[in-house]
Amino acid sequence: MDQVVLARSLFGTTMAFHIIFATIGVGLPLMILIVEVLFQFTGDSDYALMAKRWTRGFAVLLGVAIPSGTIAGVQLSLLWPQFMKVVGKVIALPFQIEIFAFLLEALFMSIYVYAADRLSRGMRILSVVLVAFGAVMSAILITNVHAFEGTPTGFRIVGGEIVDIRPWKAFFNPSFAVSAGHVAVSAYMTGAFVIASLAAFKMLRRGLSDKHYAFHRKALMVGLVVGGLFSVLTALNGHASAQHLYDEQPEKLAAAEGLFVTQDHAPLTIGGFTDKETHEVKYGIEIPWALSFLANNRFDTVVKGLNEWPEDEWPPLFIHTLFNAMVGVGMLLLLMSIVGFWWHRLLKKQTFPRWMVWSFFVSGPLSMLGIEFGWIFSCTGRQPWILYRVMRTSEAVTHTGNLGTLFLLFTGVYLLLAISVVVVLRAYFKRHPLGDELGGSGDVNGEEEGLHV
Ligand code: HEM
Repeated sequence: MDQVVLARSLFGTTMAFHIIFATIGVGLPLMILIVEVLFQFTGDSDYALMAKRWTRGFAVLLGVAIPSGTIAGVQLSLLWPQFMKVVGKVIALPFQIEIFAFLLEALFMSIYVYAADRLSRGMRILSVVLVAFGAVMSAILITNVHAFEGTPTGFRIVGGEIVDIRPWKAFFNPSFAVSAGHVAVSAYMTGAFVIASLAAFKMLRRGLSDKHYAFHRKALMVGLVVGGLFSVLTALNGHASAQHLYDEQPEKLAAAEGLFVTQDHAPLTIGGFTDKETHEVKYGIEIPWALSFLANNRFDTVVKGLNEWPEDEWPPLFIHTLFNAMVGVGMLLLLMSIVGFWWHRLLKKQTFPRWMVWSFFVSGPLSMLGIEFGWIFSCTGRQPWILYRVMRTSEAVTHTGNLGTLFLLFTGVYLLLAISVVVVLRAYFKRHPLGDELGGSGDVNGEEEGLHV
C-alpha cells in the first residue's frame, strides 16, 4: 500500500481513538462544574451525587486520554518527520504551554477528588473551575497546531531552510480563534449529550423506583439543556468556520459544498453524493443562492468552484457527505434537546415515552460521531497539504518500513484499551450502585460527600 495512505491510516486511527477521550475529557469537567454549582445553590444532594459519580468516570477516561495522547505525540514525530521540523522550530509554543494547562488540570483534579469534603463551598467550585479551565486550554493549545496546518504563518521556507521565524505570529495564526471556539463548544455539547445518553440508558430499565427515575431525569435534563445551548453555539461558530474557509481555504469549502463552477448566487446543496465524473451532487437538495449568502452574507458573493484548481489539488470529494453529516448531527441534537425541554419543562410531564428516551440514549453516540465527522472533514479536506500551500503530505511522510505492522499493533492496543475502559467503568459502578449512594446522599451540605475515586 502507498506509504502516505498507510501513515495517514495509522495516524487517523490513533486520532479517531484519542479524540473520543479527549473530547469527553473537555466536556465532562464542565458538566461536573454545572452540577456542583447547582448543588451549592439548590442544596439538592442529587447534584452532589452526580458530581461524585461523573468525577469517577472522568478519572477513568483521563487515564486513557493521557496514554493515547502520548501515542499521538510519538506518532507525529515517527510518521511526519519533515512536518515536525517545522513544528519544532515554528509552532512549539502551544505544546510547551499545554504542559502547564495539563498540570493545572491534574493538580486541581487531585484536590477535588481527594479533598472535596475538606474544602469550603467556594474552594470546591474553584477547584472544578480550574480542572475545566485546564482541560479546555489543553484542547485549544494542542488543536492550535491543527489550525496552523490550515493557515501556516510566522515563517518562510527559503531553499529548504526555515527562516524568518515568528512563533507568536504562528501561534495566533488566522484560524486560531475560530478553530479554538469550534473545538471547545462542540466538546461541551458532546460532554452534555454523553451525560444525557447515560441517564437515558438508565431510564430505559424497567421497574425503576421513583427516586431513581427522578435522579436520572434530573441528569438527563441537565444534559439536554446544556447540550442544546452548546448545539446552538456550535452551529453559530460552525457558520463562522465556514466563512473562514471561504477566505482561507476556498477549495475545502468548494468540496464541502460539491461546487465545481465558480459563480455568484451559488446554491447550497444539502445531502447527496458528489459525482467526480459529472461534476455534480447527485440526489442532493439545492437551496438557491444560499451558499453565496452563507459564505459572505451577500447573495451576489462569488464562490469559487473546484474547477479553479488542478485536480491533484482537490480535497477528496466525499467530504461533502462528511460536512453534511456533521451539520445534520448538530441539527438533530438540537431538536432532541428542544423536544426534551418542551416535554418536561413546558408540558410538565414527569415521565418520558420510551421512544423518546431511546432517542435521548442515541444522542451520546451521535454527538461522538459528529466529532469524528468534523475532524475527518477538517483534516481530510486539507489534503493534499499537511501545511496548506507550503508542504504536501507526501513530502512530510517517513520512509520507514513496517507501517502496516505498526498499524495492526496499535489497532490492537486501542481495542484493548477500549475494552479495559468498559470493564473498569462497569466494575466500578457495579461496586458502587446508585441505590446505595442515593440512600446516603441526604446530606445537603455535602459534608460526608468526599469524592474518593
Ligand atoms: C451545526 C453546524 C455546523 C457547522 C456549520 C460546522 C462547520 C464546520 C467547519 C466549516 C469546519 C472546518 C473548519 C476547518 O477545517 O478549518 C468544522 C470542523 C469541525 N467540526 Fe463542525 N460544524 C457544525 C457542527 C458540528 C458539530 C455538531 C460537531 C460535533 C458534534 C462539530 C465538530 C467539528 C470538529 C471536531 C471539527 C474539527 C475542528 C476544526 O477544524 O475546527 N461540528 N465544522
